[in-house]
Amino acid sequence: MRKRLAIFNSQLKYGKLLFLSIFVLDLCCLIISNVVAFTTYQNSNKGNYSLGDYWSVVVFMIAIDVIVTVALGSLNEVARRSYRTEVILSTKHIGNSVTLLSVILFLTKSGSRYSRVIVLLTYMLYYVLLIGAHTICRWLLERTKETKQCRRVLLMTTDGFLDEAMGIAENKSIEITGVFLLKSNDKYNYSDIHVVDDVDEAKTILCWLWTNEFVLYGVDTQMIPMKLISACNEMSIKISVVDFEYRVLNLKRITAPDSKAGTLSFLEGKHDVPFPIRRVYWITETEAGIHRGFHAHKLNCQLLYCPYGKIDIKLDNGLGKKDVIRLEGPDKGLLLMPGLWREMIWLETGSVLCVIASEYYDADEYIRDYDKFLEYKKTPQLSDAGYEILSAPIAASKQL
Ligand code: TYD
Repeated sequence: MRKRLAIFNSQLKYGKLLFLSIFVLDLCCLIISNVVAFTTYQNSNKGNYSLGDYWSVVVFMIAIDVIVTVALGSLNEVARRSYRTEVILSTKHIGNSVTLLSVILFLTKSGSRYSRVIVLLTYMLYYVLLIGAHTICRWLLERTKETKQCRRVLLMTTDGFLDEAMGIAENKSIEITGVFLLKSNDKYNYSDIHVVDDVDEAKTILCWLWTNEFVLYGVDTQMIPMKLISACNEMSIKISVVDFEYRVLNLKRITAPDSKAGTLSFLEGKHDVPFPIRRVYWITETEAGIHRGFHAHKLNCQLLYCPYGKIDIKLDNGLGKKDVIRLEGPDKGLLLMPGLWREMIWLETGSVLCVIASEYYDADEYIRDYDKFLEYKKTPQLSDAGYEILSAPIAASKQL
């Protein structure tokens, strides 16, 4: 275990070292651009600028380059980004550097001592070298990493599903590069795996450990931080959802020493409820034999429980699988992912149905017509966030 973690840490350190070397390479490109621009201009007989003076501009340029790189994040995901982003970020980088240098040099009195032509020539050259160097680096790294041979997965899950989610690594062609827990605590047993709860650390794992898949296990897609979605899009990392449709949960129950004092049960956000809690509602004063529901949700994840009485929940995934789950008592919960047709049947008068929901009430998010539901299930889903949810279960998930 310790050995694997050491290898992992050295991989991550290697990634960070690689990042630094690309940073240094950029600065070398800047110095080369300066030398070429200065000598070309001086040799063209137009320039009579002193090399001694010019060195101070070079120092300014390097300082500005470092500031702009850090402030703009010009090197973000440099090892994995697309050519388009490379051009956009490099253009922004050069644009900001030129502006900053202009402000410092040409709006101050010292500006006249330096050649604007050399500065502009330098930046034009630097722009070309920057894009060229990054592209060559990426090309070389891709070849050495052989990323296509194995699915390198960053898992996003909750404490509750961690053990189960880790089971996917039993498949030999899957290597888990890290786990992004919604809220990590110290209880996990995976000392050989990097478990993080910080978005930037997750991005580092995605980029520098050559992760090629981001897998959500038992977590609503809306829980993915936007920063991670754009990082995945940027690095062409596939987002997959292990879609287990529903799950029966054992809820905690604390019995008072005096049995007449009853029991206490609770649910905690993030630990027990793997989606953002936006709404809680409960249905009471219902008579036995009553049927409710007859709808499915497009986005809403729910956790249902019946603290008092007995209620059957009939589920239908629209793809031929149906099931009935009986809720009774305070220690049984039912986690429902979106896209399930449900019907609730009250078996005892006065049974209470409590629902924790991931969405505010929105009538448009419901599908209340069964035929439309069947139609909906046939078409691939595209989430509101603008990225495709790839339904690619990679574990033998519990299905209906
Ligand atoms: P409905 O979803 O039809 O209940 P069920 O499916 O359990 O039979 O909801 C009944 C009414 O309550 C309907 O007019 C919508 C309204 N409603 C809200 O305004 N907010 C809510 O959070 C919920 C669940 C329902």
